[in-house]
Amino acid sequence: MSAPELRFRPPGDKSISHRALILAALAAGPSRLRGLPGSADVAATRRALAALGARFEDGEAGEVVVRAPTDWSRNGPEIDCGNSGTTARLMLGVLTGLGIPATLTGDASLSRRPMDRVVYPLQAMGGRLRYAGDRDRLPVVALPRASGSLRVLRYRSRVASAQVKSAVLLAGLAAGVEVEVHEPAPTRDHTERLLAGLGLDVEMDRPEDGGARVRLAARDRAAPLPGLDFEVPGDVSSAAFLSGAALLSGRSVRVEGVGLNPGRTAWLERLGAMGVAAETRVEEERLGEPVGTLRIRPGRPGALRLGPAEAAGCIDEVPLLAILAARAEGESRIDGVAELRVKESDRLALLAANLRALGGECEERPDGLTIHGTDRPLRGRVRTDGDHRIAMAFAVLGLAPGCRVEVDDPDCVAVSYPGFWDDLRRFEGDAT
Ligand code: S3P
Repeated sequence: MSAPELRFRPPGDKSISHRALILAALAAGPSRLRGLPGSADVAATRRALAALGARFEDGEAGEVVVRAPTDWSRNGPEIDCGNSGTTARLMLGVLTGLGIPATLTGDASLSRRPMDRVVYPLQAMGGRLRYAGDRDRLPVVALPRASGSLRVLRYRSRVASAQVKSAVLLAGLAAGVEVEVHEPAPTRDHTERLLAGLGLDVEMDRPEDGGARVRLAARDRAAPLPGLDFEVPGDVSSAAFLSGAALLSGRSVRVEGVGLNPGRTAWLERLGAMGVAAETRVEEERLGEPVGTLRIRPGRPGALRLGPAEAAGCIDEVPLLAILAARAEGESRIDGVAELRVKESDRLALLAANLRALGGECEERPDGLTIHGTDRPLRGRVRTDGDHRIAMAFAVLGLAPGCRVEVDDPDCVAVSYPGFWDDLRRFEGDAT
């Protein structure tokens, strides 16, 4: 008899949570947010907003009540964004839009990540942002700016980045100024969906060049932004690790209450193309975000093909797809993912080095990997450089028959998925 299906509810979506907290802090009325994850990154955004005067009250059953500051702090606090690129980049948009001062810092990993991609368009709007040390790196100092001094921005971004797009949208929202962003490939659209869900005038279209365009109309600053009453959908990127665990351990998995925004499910399409049986069912919408159930049945995947056209849609899932490719049949190829080199770690370099350290075969290129699938046991210790997605991907690989993987920094999973190890342990027994 086959083992019973394992059921999960993943933690609240990290990307959506950052945005919900920020919009709640900008809203006129109080907001009620449920399902926020215990993730370290989301805590960094909450701390950043609190340092500027937003008030948070933890209620029953995990509900958080958020109130905008009566007056945004003008003391220029130093805000530690920890490991969270989304906190740093989105908060730069907020600070620019509000014209209030602060200095943003981060941990060693975040301090190596590029900031020009957001600083440049925000300066083009009239934002007063300065590097305190090296160019393109944190710390970034936001200087105070007189209200009404931001300009309309129509920005064509060279990088496909939801953080860049969202920083500009939030600056436009906070200042009441029209902004338009054209990105070279569509990226996650949570900010746009939440803004539209709150009744703002947002237009989205897909120009013929394969990119995406979003325009937020100037908001009448006298018309208050309504508070949110919102339950954050489960994190589909966390569900990706559970799906990988299902495939490699031979257990069926059902993930409930998970966000199924098509801008986040390109990894499922890649799995489908690898011959994996996956099913999704949308059951409800919350402020424009589809939420439902995902089911995965185990089976050995075929080779992975992932090219530049798919990259932006599943950039956070490439580590997981890469370790599945290491157990897939045949040779897999991943191209057009140079962005992975500037994530929490150089993910391409770590994927290649770790796969080889475990006894796998992998070639690294400047913007991709070739991975030779094997069913030989892969065993050893992997280096994460504190990167949560590298840690979780290799931990999942350790579930494959004959494989044994030790992760050098198990605690780093708390960045997005604090309960990861408990959930992973459920794949090891017969329990449901
Ligand atoms: C995120 C956008 C992506 C993603 C990150 C979260 C977001 O980054 O990798 O984990 O919440 O906007 P980029 O905007 O740098 O692609």
